Amino acid sequence: MTGDLVSDLRAALGDRAVLTDPADMAAYVTDWTGSFTGTALAVVRPASTSEVATAVRLCAAAGVGVVPQGGNTGLVGGGVPDSGGDQIVLSLGRMRRVREVDPVADTLTVEAGTPLATVQSAAADAGRLFPLSLGFEGSCTIGGTIATNAGGTAVLRYGMVRELVLGLEVVLPDGRVWDGLRPLRKDNTGYDLKQLFIGSEGTLGVVTAAVLRLLPATPRRATAFVALESVEAATALLPLLREHGGGQLTTWELLGRQALDLVLAHLPGVRDPFGTRHEWYGLVEIAGTSDDVDERLEDALSAAASQGLLLDAVLAGSPAQRESLWALREGVSEAQKSEGATLKHDVTLPISSLARFVAEVGPVLQEALPGVRLVTYGHVGDGNLHYNLSAPVGDDAALQARAGALTRIIYDAVAALGGSISAEHGIGALKRDAVAAYKSGVEVDLMRAVKQAIDPGGVMNSRKVLP
Ligand code: FAD
Ligand code: MLT
Ligand code: ZN
Repeated sequence: MTGDLVSDLRAALGDRAVLTDPADMAAYVTDWTGSFTGTALAVVRPASTSEVATAVRLCAAAGVGVVPQGGNTGLVGGGVPDSGGDQIVLSLGRMRRVREVDPVADTLTVEAGTPLATVQSAAADAGRLFPLSLGFEGSCTIGGTIATNAGGTAVLRYGMVRELVLGLEVVLPDGRVWDGLRPLRKDNTGYDLKQLFIGSEGTLGVVTAAVLRLLPATPRRATAFVALESVEAATALLPLLREHGGGQLTTWELLGRQALDLVLAHLPGVRDPFGTRHEWYGLVEIAGTSDDVDERLEDALSAAASQGLLLDAVLAGSPAQRESLWALREGVSEAQKSEGATLKHDVTLPISSLARFVAEVGPVLQEALPGVRLVTYGHVGDGNLHYNLSAPVGDDAALQARAGALTRIIYDAVAALGGSISAEHGIGALKRDAVAAYKSGVEVDLMRAVKQAIDPGGVMNSRKVLP
């Protein structure tokens, strides 16, 4: 039957759209982290919404599961198949057309496989801004960011993807197309269906296109990299940055020294902006249309220094300097990957509890695995830490052996402080079991009911997210 499916897919979409050679499929069955590798019956690469619908309909009829995939930059193993070898990967990579830019409605309509960087450029070409920004924006697709409700470094000002999407086109698990591609700002006609698909990680349908909100461009950007004594100082600084930055405060990011050390060790052409070592660093950006952004940032930093919240600061004096400061923050994922075994924890807490979390959990982890390296960084302005661990130097095996226990320590502390075990990366395969432990029974029941209502046959990415 599955042999027939591959022939049917080839007949419907053409030979070149269906890959079955293991060498051709290799890049689609292993994720960016290298922690998740599976096998697939085939990788299918449709070029249009109707081809996606045909592929999904054929899979549903054959009882074969579909794993949607965009740029394969997800960090929780959601976009790759497991080792069962009985699913297909449906790659949106050929659907990368910007369908329309409407400067009056302030919208952009784009196909799901379009790289985020291309969406940003299309907005910039129209003199507007699409504000979603994250480390791998050249590779991740807009469909993948919608499916994961991605966050990034400008959430403080613009919110997550959920707040940037006006309409969606989705192929449902039975192959029907839901045309919700509307540019409406207001639509109170019952349940907001698009929000169900945003953040559903491919478990409810395949996003094929989206209408996105555009915002005013922010050509003036004032950026500083600052040295801080503690996480407490970073959170205490937020109201001050807001007061001086007003609605133009865009970014407030945190890096622990261990994170900076990895960037300095692994990325070419970067340097420590300060002559002295500090424990914590922040990256702040205020962006707008006039030069007052510089003044606002300088005033905020002077006020912070006079209140003893700042140890040192470097302001970017040119676009090149700005880039080099951003490289220190955006390079952490790549640098940590180069260092070896990594355990990622994308946690969120009430901002007022972040400092306590860091102070209390670190010593417990050190006791559980002496020498474990705490690579702490993230979107502190959103209450979101990437509380990642690297192995003790030269002992990757120790981290792998203790992974379950270390993660439990972290998640238990997050739960005790009223936080969540995923802020922006999602559940995927990595946290599927943890969902049962850290979400309430009522929440899990409701999630299962939604899945059952939309995908009763379990076609769409059914081994992900739900416990
Ligand atoms: P994929 O990895 O291909 O897929 C991710 C999930 O979405 C999977 O479950 C997949 O099945 C599903 N999916 C993909 N496309 C579709 C579709 N069209 N329809 C339905 N389901 C689909 N994320 C953040 O939120 N913030 C960050 O700051 C951030 N920084 C990152 C930095 C680095 C270096 C890397 C490698 C990743 C980072 N990420 C970040 C994670 C990742 O880039 C985002 O989650 C991104 O949104 C994934 O997009 P993608 O196209 O690569 O999706
Ligand atoms: C980031 O913000 O850099 C990523 O989301 C974090 C990660 O790779 O863990
Ligand atoms: Zn992040």
